[in-house]
Amino acid sequence: MLHRLELGYLVIEVPDPDIVAPTLADVVGLVPGEPTPSGAATWRNDDRAHRLVVQAGEANDAVAVGLEAVDHDAFERTLAQLRTAGHDVVEDAALAAERRVGRLARATAPWGAAVEVVHDLDDAVTPFASDLVPGGFLTNGVGFGHAVFATTAFDESVAFLTDGLGFEQSDWLEMELAPGIALEVRFFHCNARYHTVALARAPFDLPQVLHHVMFEMNERDEVGAAFDRLWFTDLGIPNGLGRHDNDGMFSFYLQTPAGFQIEVGHGARVITDGWDDNRRYDAISAWGHQPLRPA
Ligand SMILES: [Fe+2]
Repeated sequence: MLHRLELGYLVIEVPDPDIVAPTLADVVGLVPGEPTPSGAATWRNDDRAHRLVVQAGEANDAVAVGLEAVDHDAFERTLAQLRTAGHDVVEDAALAAERRVGRLARATAPWGAAVEVVHDLDDAVTPFASDLVPGGFLTNGVGFGHAVFATTAFDESVAFLTDGLGFEQSDWLEMELAPGIALEVRFFHCNARYHTVALARAPFDLPQVLHHVMFEMNERDEVGAAFDRLWFTDLGIPNGLGRHDNDGMFSFYLQTPAGFQIEVGHGARVITDGWDDNRRYDAISAWGHQPLRPA
């Protein structure tokens, strides 16, 4: 398995960053980080300086995906591969300081967000500790989680991930959600995490390209405890507890006040060397994930 990249951070732009803070802190159990040099709010799920950056603005969507190269060689090879695949890649030292990384090069993904290939994301000043998630989150060697984008530029986005960034397909989901309504989702890995990015084929342009961002907890019971915290809010619950068919993850989904969803999970399968289970699935979940509460 090619392991050059890990999901380093996600930058989300919303008109009012404060509206997502209670969900991130009090339900998911993330911990606030230091604001970025430009003043954007940040959130941590491990020892790194930030994993979610929430900046104020009109996009109301994910605006940048930070992919952290595991070393200098991986950084250079990723840039070279992107350029060979025909993508413009621009190094930006000022943005590197804002993102608290040593180096940063930026390209534009076909789904609309920037992809920032970075190296050397800072550690936070303090070690990570979350009162609500004492067991912590699974990030070591696999990045902070995964992100799923729904796009009409589906085929171009698949090519960008695979030919441009070197991601490999884990498997795919193809099913009829309702009569005449097809769902196609392709799952891609760049390290042992089952998928770091997944792409859904959108039938038309949706208000948000970011469908969800996922945080994986080390302890199964702490997913249940997070679900209990969610239950006693008035947030939407698009999917209650369940287990995905392909990656086997035990998880639930909440809808943030900004619209995009957050998946909280535990226990996904991992990608192994010589991955040979790239096949079609025709069900999202082995069980559960029922729509529980409209937003
Ligand atoms: Fe997910």
